[in-house]
Amino acid sequence: MNVQRSIDLKKNHTLRVVENTGKLAGALSLNDEQKVIAEVIALYHDAGRFLQFTKYGTFNDEQSEDHALLSVAAVTEAPFFAGLDEISQQIIKMAIQNHSKIQLPNLEDEQMQLFCQLIRDADKLDLWAMIINQFRDRSNDDMKVIMYNLPDLNPVSEKVVKAIQIGKLVKKEDMKTMNDFRLMVMSWVFDLNFRASFNILNQHRYIEKVYDTLPKQDGIINAYRTIKLFIENKFVE
Ligand SMILES: [Fe+2]
Repeated sequence: MNVQRSIDLKKNHTLRVVENTGKLAGALSLNDEQKVIAEVIALYHDAGRFLQFTKYGTFNDEQSEDHALLSVAAVTEAPFFAGLDEISQQIIKMAIQNHSKIQLPNLEDEQMQLFCQLIRDADKLDLWAMIINQFRDRSNDDMKVIMYNLPDLNPVSEKVVKAIQIGKLVKKEDMKTMNDFRLMVMSWVFDLNFRASFNILNQHRYIEKVYDTLPKQDGIINAYRTIKLFIENKFVE
């Protein structure tokens, strides 16, 4: 991947995550102080990506380092960080460190949990937008890298469909084809935390747009139905 393009990709992603964070923070009626913390988290959540790419030439954490930890290091070194109170510092570090984990650890502190969930939602909402954009071009090299160079084969793996049927996120190691990756991207709904996030998801029809790129096979149709039902239920609770 071209260096400047890769940097721009992450820079623009970051700016849109900041924007999403603002929307969610508004919908959640956060106060001004909380909004600032949320914005700092959004601005720095992927800051480690720049160092990662410069040093290793890849965005793949397994082939380099955990980018979330690099981002924590970047924010703690930022000049303003030392001026923040201890609790805010802890929240910012925790939210950034956990933003890309498959699952959040159990957090007893409500504030801590709120900010951790917020960045995960704001991030996913933009990842959906970015990935759907890339899906349009099947031969696109960037897309192949994003999809872990999985083969462009039709079948979907049983484990992937099963995970969705029980409302779980698809694990990276269970993906064997590009279509598995597409289903994995759809399974992120199970980790969406706020009604406002589901509103944005629906507005942009992200799930439908991913589904449109998939062949209509039984396993895929069933997985899609499960996901749609899960989303609908979020609005009747
Ligand atoms: Fe991100």
